[in-house]
Amino acid sequence: MARRKIVAGNWKMNMTPSEAVKLVEELKPLVASDTVDVVYCVPAIDIVPVVEAVKGSNVAVGAENMYFEDKGAYTGEISAPMLVDAGVKYVILGHSERRDYFKEDDVLLNKKVKKAFEAGLTPILCCGESLEQREMGVTIDWIRLQIKSDLVGITAEQVASMVIAYEPIWAIGTGKTATTEQAQEVCKGIRECIAEMYDAATAESVRIQYGGSVNGANAAELFAQPDIDGGLVGGASLKADFGKIVNY
Ligand code: 13P
Repeated sequence: MARRKIVAGNWKMNMTPSEAVKLVEELKPLVASDTVDVVYCVPAIDIVPVVEAVKGSNVAVGAENMYFEDKGAYTGEISAPMLVDAGVKYVILGHSERRDYFKEDDVLLNKKVKKAFEAGLTPILCCGESLEQREMGVTIDWIRLQIKSDLVGITAEQVASMVIAYEPIWAIGTGKTATTEQAQEVCKGIRECIAEMYDAATAESVRIQYGGSVNGANAAELFAQPDIDGGLVGGASLKADFGKIVNY
């Protein structure tokens, strides 16, 4: 059974609501696809207008973060039920920018992953090593630890339906893409980790993206790798280039 590719844009902290709607309109003809799942993960304030703007198209909307409580005194946070009610289908969890700048750890992320599933959202769980970790030779150990900690208590059926994004931190926003071999090696390692934690069928189902300076020129080679099921795209998702990545 072939896994369906999934290409997601991570807009990060870019696009005002009016700019967002304009971008969606510009990209609409470029990202049309019958064979690839396309997702825009957008800033919280853009969610409502973007859900409206993608109506009738092949694009689904994702959030870039959420909190693990349903509601209450958590000033500034957004809950999974809020996202679902707004029409969101996916949520990025554990992006390295959130881990680094906002000190999100694996205990917190595990709660968020659980809540996302409980609410009916598909998590796009990010993992990845720093340059120092790669140079020390601990890349796969580190990533296995992230995956194992973040998925505590998550069932095989849930894991089979989710998305894991491998994003080497040194490749994010640097124009320095991991080589195809490096990206494939780690994505394969993640799949092997899932097979050990669950079973072969779950490992075969889970979709694993590569992220880190993906663009229209390198997407085809990366996505042709046996364990890479698409990409999580930052900078290039804000431009016409995103259409080239979707239709790699
Ligand atoms: P860039 O594509 O800009 O390197 O960002 C990757 C990323 O962090 C996607 O989540």
